[in-house]
Amino acid sequence: MPGWLGFRQRPLHPLGRRLRFRLLRWLSNRPPNSKRIYVVTIGGRRFKRVVFSDSHQAELAAARLEAFGPSGIYPALVLQREGELWVEYVEGEPLREADREVVAQLAGLFATLYRRDPRLEPIEATPFAWALHRDLRFLREVGVISQGVHRVLDEIAGKLTPKAVWVGYDCTDAILKNFVRDGAGRIRGVDVESLGADQLLGSGAAKAAVRWLGPLRDAFLHELRAREVPDFGAYFPFVEMSFLAFWQKSSFLEKKRRFVDPSLFDRFLGQ
Ligand SMILES: Nc1ncnc2c1ncn2[C@@H]1O[C@H](COP(=O)(O)OP(=O)(O)O)[C@@H](O)[C@H]1O
Ligand SMILES: [Mg+2]
Repeated sequence: MPGWLGFRQRPLHPLGRRLRFRLLRWLSNRPPNSKRIYVVTIGGRRFKRVVFSDSHQAELAAARLEAFGPSGIYPALVLQREGELWVEYVEGEPLREADREVVAQLAGLFATLYRRDPRLEPIEATPFAWALHRDLRFLREVGVISQGVHRVLDEIAGKLTPKAVWVGYDCTDAILKNFVRDGAGRIRGVDVESLGADQLLGSGAAKAAVRWLGPLRDAFLHELRAREVPDFGAYFPFVEMSFLAFWQKSSFLEKKRRFVDPSLFDRFLGQ
């Protein structure tokens, strides 16, 4: 694009991925992921320009980024207009692997989310108990889990459900590449859509646990407790099962076959 017309920009994602996503959007009915992301360079500084398919998503993301602006855990909002969100581009390296130090820093980031305006709500005032039963039923209906396994899991789900849950901000896509270590060594979240409000607190930690924490799971939970986050630890298995059922459902619908793995429920069967 010539300079007099606009600012210099390039798509964030590589050509192959963009073509694949376009083709799928055209040919397939899987749930959409139609936002486009660009890196815009202005005066030697880089910015991220996210183009959502509607302004509602952009407004929600902007409001959440504003709420955490001073904390710096997510990129600073530059401007939101119509369906577009312009934010700071965090110069640095996306996380690729985790050790104790990464886990401690991430726990600090998560604690900032969890400690902001958390609400303790009676479970029946939230959608979460029903959502777990609904997602398990969906997984049975489409054949991901058998009738027998469903019966047992559904009963265990009932037993794991607490009387009240903490609700608030969470990182809904806590995978390593959604965090960047900046030049000063600080870890920051970069996937602006992953900053979720009104979440079942601990869902982000549950995703991290299934996806990459491995043997660092307990260390992460310990680091969170040390930062005095709302105490969802007492009913964390409920949060984990809720996340797992939701994630299996969405992976199934998105046809991300490599993630659909009913054996991930095995650890709940003995409870
Ligand atoms: N603001 C940013 N600063 C630095 N790196 C970023 C930023 N936004 C995205 N990235 C890099 O680009 C990758 C993809 O961006 P992301 O917003 O997570 O989109 P998606 O999840 O749709 O691929 C990230 O995993 C990260 O490596
Ligand atoms: Mg991402």
